[in-house]
Amino acid sequence: MIVSETNETTGSGIEEVRNIVVVGAGAMGSQIGMLCALAGFAATVTDIDQRALDRAKDQLRQRMTRDVEKGRRTAEDVDAALERLTFSTDLTAAASKADFVIEAAVEKLDVKRRLFADLDRAAPAHAILATNSSSIVSSRIADATGRPDRVCNLHFFNPALVMTCVEVVRGPGTSDETVDTAVALARRLGKVPVVLNREIPGFIANRILGAVRDEAIFLLENGIATAADIDTACRTALGYPMGPFELMDLTGIDIGYLTKKDRFAASGDPKDQPSKSVSALVERGELGRKAGRGWYDYDESGGRTPRPTEQVTSP
Ligand code: 3HC
Repeated sequence: MIVSETNETTGSGIEEVRNIVVVGAGAMGSQIGMLCALAGFAATVTDIDQRALDRAKDQLRQRMTRDVEKGRRTAEDVDAALERLTFSTDLTAAASKADFVIEAAVEKLDVKRRLFADLDRAAPAHAILATNSSSIVSSRIADATGRPDRVCNLHFFNPALVMTCVEVVRGPGTSDETVDTAVALARRLGKVPVVLNREIPGFIANRILGAVRDEAIFLLENGIATAADIDTACRTALGYPMGPFELMDLTGIDIGYLTKKDRFAASGDPKDQPSKSVSALVERGELGRKAGRGWYDYDESGGRTPRPTEQVTSP
């Protein structure tokens, strides 16, 4: 069986985890950093781009203010967490104090391998190096480090502050203690961990989501229904909180595109190739909400308008 129910963990090194470094200040990395700070850890979000760090800081402050206004958190808890959260462009300095690193950088294997080699040099020997990737399994990165037993996937869902599932994936060289510590960390962050005892790209949720997404794109590209109606059907017939096109716009159309390209490169199976319309959107930089345009058009206030099917499916 690949998936195990996660019961109490033994031998976890969670008590030794004080400092957590998150690599990448995008939507995922910044919210994961915030979660760590909210759970009482000293957290540093790093990025090569100072503007990405500034943007992350602003967005997190706004998000936290809203949570306080809505009574979801107290102002004291938020202030204390924001004190514990720092932002830095200096990965080496941040990693030198890390007990646990969560990498949430771009979904590109060569970038991740370089990052993990750097992290391995900079981080203390006991530190666990985890990747938030769901398409690149950790065994493809672990051999860039001298500590494959301390490398695993720790996969959060978007928006990370809200979605409770975290997938912990054991690579062939990952130790039991690393899995136990990752599971314990997910729990400390208020999440519900599920463990995959063997690697498979996409893990559980994204494999299921991918099948739904492929079918939705098939229906759209064949002129059966509009993206808006397919989304509506998924929400109203299946009880999904968001339809597949809305969700791609939320997570970033480029993320799914890169995942598919990577999977196609490994499998050569034509069904793993990015679809025509996804490739066209990515080529035009229409990457979803973050670009103001994807399957839908977005205005400044977050309002959304459907786009004509010919526009989103034409090359
Ligand atoms: N960041 C943080 N919090 C957010 C958020 C965001 N981007 N968007 C919404 N929220 C929170 C806020 O607390 C918000 O309340 P507020 O606006 O009053 O502060 C609350 O959620 C409700 O939001 P909305 O009223 O805007 O809308 P919904 O009730 O539809 O909830 C949602 C939004 C939680 C995103 C919900 O639609 C949902 O669960 N969607 C499905 C998300 C999903 O499937 N995620 C998995 C994606 S796959 C993935 O991440 C894998 C990766 O590898 C790509």
